[in-house]
Amino acid sequence: MKHISKVVYLDKVDSTNEYLKRISVEHGLCIVANYQTKGRGRRGKSWISLKGKGLYLSVLFRKPSSLDSIKLLSLAMGTAVVRVLRSFKEAFYLKWPNDVCIKGKKICGILPEVLKDRVIVGIGVNMYHSESDFSLIDQPTTSLSAEGISIDRDEFLGMILTSVDTYFDRLISGKFNVDEYESLCPLKGKRVVIAKDKGKSFEGICLGVDMDGCLIVDTGLGIERLISSDVSIRVKDV
Ligand code: BTN
Repeated sequence: MKHISKVVYLDKVDSTNEYLKRISVEHGLCIVANYQTKGRGRRGKSWISLKGKGLYLSVLFRKPSSLDSIKLLSLAMGTAVVRVLRSFKEAFYLKWPNDVCIKGKKICGILPEVLKDRVIVGIGVNMYHSESDFSLIDQPTTSLSAEGISIDRDEFLGMILTSVDTYFDRLISGKFNVDEYESLCPLKGKRVVIAKDKGKSFEGICLGVDMDGCLIVDTGLGIERLISSDVSIRVKDV
């Protein structure tokens, strides 16, 4: 691997993202935890991190010097994870910006954080959750084992880190292509409902993702360009 050079395993931590923020500025350091007591999700939500049931990790990279790389970090990391999952089943896809789903259920969430001099990419994958574990989570959710995929956590970690390393390298060398992301994120042409953190929700037809990683939606009244940090989207069944 070109970037990820060290993996530290912890049994329990508040949040692997927070822990990395506190302890390190070392490019390529990865923290993996058996469970988190305050796992964080996007948009202020929590990420339920049951003991031994998921892969919970964060990787620290030096902040890329190009603004384009920073803008596309989230999409590149989603692409890295969905590529691994697709090696098990073709049906995995991305939901903008970087939820990994299968049949409308979420299996992985990614929390990229851009700091002054570094970026931290947190990845949570449900691995061994059973149906009863999902009742704790407020959205349609699945896990690798619920999808009939059985894999050892360390082996899976190796696959994820290799892919994250590859896509981070592509990103910073200008070789990450938004077209690749779009081919894995089947939203173009679909009717979507957008909920903004502030303000009410609206509907429109998704026109795709632009070069900055923003989602473009035609509302009928105009074109909206959405930044991932402040919206959630739902595909409308028509
Ligand atoms: C999301 O809301 O979809 C993002 C979830 C990200 C969860 C992972 S688990 C490892 C890392 N540490 C955290 O506290 N969050 C991320």
